Amino acid sequence: MSAFIIDEVKKTFSNGEVEEEILKGVNLSLKEGEITALIGPSGSGKSTILTIAAGLQKASTGEIMFDGKDMTRMSQEEVRHIRATDFGFVFQSSHLVPFLTVEEQLQLMLDVSETKMSKKEQTNAIEEMLKLVEMEHRKESYPSSLSGGERQRVAIARAIIHRPKILFADEPTASLDTKRSKGVMELLQELTRTLKLTTLMVTHDEEMLPYVDRVITMRDGYIVE
Ligand SMILES: Nc1ncnc2c1ncn2[C@@H]1O[C@H](COP(=O)(O)OP(=O)(O)OP(=O)(O)O)[C@@H](O)[C@H]1O
Ligand SMILES: [Mg+2]
Repeated sequence: MSAFIIDEVKKTFSNGEVEEEILKGVNLSLKEGEITALIGPSGSGKSTILTIAAGLQKASTGEIMFDGKDMTRMSQEEVRHIRATDFGFVFQSSHLVPFLTVEEQLQLMLDVSETKMSKKEQTNAIEEMLKLVEMEHRKESYPSSLSGGERQRVAIARAIIHRPKILFADEPTASLDTKRSKGVMELLQELTRTLKLTTLMVTHDEEMLPYVDRVITMRDGYIVE
């Protein structure tokens, strides 16, 4: 069953007088337990469709079905709630808060996510998650003392500590060397399967494609294959 369906999504930006259609009708359905990778040339609309799917910006037309409901018809507050509870985000740069320790980064996410976990459950969840990404030994460290790959593992842990259903990742390995990139992809693959996540990622790097379940190519605002 598809957990997430993007149906005929179009996006037009107006730059002063000129209207430009950046997405020209994108259709995509994502499956639970699978990583779908979006590839394609720079400017083809990959990040735009990802941020629209994630409710970070609005589609001009089209539907985004999550859990059987069209997100484009929801109030801002409903979308905000879904983003906080059901979605997780990873970006090219880890965007860790420089003055918080590794475990505090995860705690901050739990605070934002309106989790129903008790304090004790939260502490346990943080410990378990850090074990999963093999960062437990660095839980009291600050981001400045971590390597790029370690920071990205913490960013992934933070993205899913509240147990979201959908994980959005925009070029999560772009700031890493090949060895660390592969480590991050192995982790994303394992977490997507074991936690039954539905993962949508953008990548430029063909070497990462063996780690994903489906590859979708975009060109000029269309899906071409
Ligand atoms: N807010 C905006 N206003 C105007 N144009 C925009 C806006 N956001 C994106 N665009 C344009 O839409 C096009 C697609 O951008 P997008 O960021 O989705 O591309 P991309 O496929 O992610 O590229 P890259 O691989 O370089 O990250 C680009 O031409 C970009 O300049
Ligand atoms: Mg992009």
